[in-house]
Amino acid sequence: MGVISPLKGQSHTHSLTKKFLSYVLYALLPIALFRLYCHPFPLPQSTTDQLPHNNRLILTTSSSPPLSLSFSKEKEIAYETPCDYTNGRWVHDKMGPLYNGTTCDTIKDGQNCISHGRPDLGYLYWRWQPSQCKLSRFDPNTFLNLFSNKHLAFVGDSMARNQLESLLCMLAAASNANLVYKDGEDNKFRRWHFASHNITISVYWSPFLVRGVEKSNIGPDHNELYVNTVDERWGADLDHIDMIVLSIGHWFLHPAVYYEGGSILGCHYCPRLNHTEIGFYDVMSKAIKTALKTIIERKGANGNGVDVFLTTFSPSHFEGEWDKAGACPKTKPYKEGEKMLEGMDADMRAIGVEEMEAAKIYAKQFGGLRLEILDVSKLSLMRPDGHPGPYMYPFPFANGAQQHVQNDCVHWCLPGPIDTWNQILLEVIRKRSMQSRREE
Ligand SMILES: *[C@@H]1O[C@H](CO)[C@@H](O)[C@H](O)[C@H]1NC(C)=O
Ligand SMILES: *[C@@H]1O[C@H](CO)[C@@H](O)[C@H](O)[C@H]1NC(C)=O
Ligand SMILES: *[C@@H]1O[C@H](CO)[C@@H](O)[C@H](O)[C@H]1NC(C)=O
Repeated sequence: MGVISPLKGQSHTHSLTKKFLSYVLYALLPIALFRLYCHPFPLPQSTTDQLPHNNRLILTTSSSPPLSLSFSKEKEIAYETPCDYTNGRWVHDKMGPLYNGTTCDTIKDGQNCISHGRPDLGYLYWRWQPSQCKLSRFDPNTFLNLFSNKHLAFVGDSMARNQLESLLCMLAAASNANLVYKDGEDNKFRRWHFASHNITISVYWSPFLVRGVEKSNIGPDHNELYVNTVDERWGADLDHIDMIVLSIGHWFLHPAVYYEGGSILGCHYCPRLNHTEIGFYDVMSKAIKTALKTIIERKGANGNGVDVFLTTFSPSHFEGEWDKAGACPKTKPYKEGEKMLEGMDADMRAIGVEEMEAAKIYAKQFGGLRLEILDVSKLSLMRPDGHPGPYMYPFPFANGAQQHVQNDCVHWCLPGPIDTWNQILLEVIRKRSMQSRREE
């Protein structure tokens, strides 16, 4: 596919402020990346009140029973993780990753940075060191033993897929998985089976978690979300799922119209439609609330229990112009204190954290439901070096320097920093299983 810039011919952008432009680019890039630039996209032409940065996160108004957002910090939650993996620093690690493009065949092309000729490999030799505890190296056999006879599902957008592929690659060091099911454009729904341990791992495409219509050539030119109806493409399978990892965020930046209980709630960036601009923060809260509430009620009712993780927002790292070489040029992690989680990255993370806290309280009335946040925002923010950048395509500079080159500064190279998300996931599950064994 050729390089098509959505900015071509958009001369009016030159009059915009730098801040405005970079924010708009940030908002539009996920669309461009996910759609692979198939449909060039217009830039906002009107006033700044349609810009996402004017949205405010108003958590106090988004609470509605029974998932109330008020929670007391004093109350100890029995299944809370014993270590806080959120804060820490990246330290040199000469061990390197558990896999490469040869040992793992589930790496999506756009994230296969090494085989696409990324020249620097220093980004592979770092490990996350939490401030308060040690994080064990990922041990595939430990994972396989803990998940015997279980079904683990990743549900969400392309970050969910990125995390799933990382896990499959790390497990490939110990056991082979058979792809037993695939469906959908770009194989958005897939399922693997590890015969050695009777483990099923699946991925469900559901970028809003709730029912939605994605913008397309033949359908609407914006997304449509039904914020209080769960997406049954994964919801209907809940009976057969033992652990679920939810991961959403970037798709909420897209233009969208929101429906709630049969009426229109509002929209986000829909200048041609006559709906109220309500931003996307509140809507993302509602979507997560609906997803968690559905899981809790359905799994609570059947009594089989479930583990639920919500992966927090993964910041992107566009620095310069997105279609020039060097859009995310760093080759080293940020040092401790060098970069703060702020702005939209912090707000998006906070939405996940708050909804998870509320859901934990709601889940208490049912037995066997364990809910936890997988708080990767900070550790991911500190890895500007971990994205494919121009190496989303093979050997982008094979014909010398290019004037325009597509960059992916959103997803993560495999192997890469996203492996740490699964390392933490395993550590939490492992500690939890040790604790429940002690209590028996
Ligand atoms: C990938 O890893 C395998 C096993 O560790 C090793 O034999 C092989 O040389 C590696 N391939 C590359 C391209 O590094
Ligand atoms: C394999 O695991 C599934 C759950 O994913 C379970 O329903 C089934 O009974 C297991 N099969 C065997 C032979 O244990
Ligand atoms: C937009 O909505 C307002 C208020 O509901 C209404 O007065 C106006 O006629 C609408 N305009 C269009 C073009 O539908």
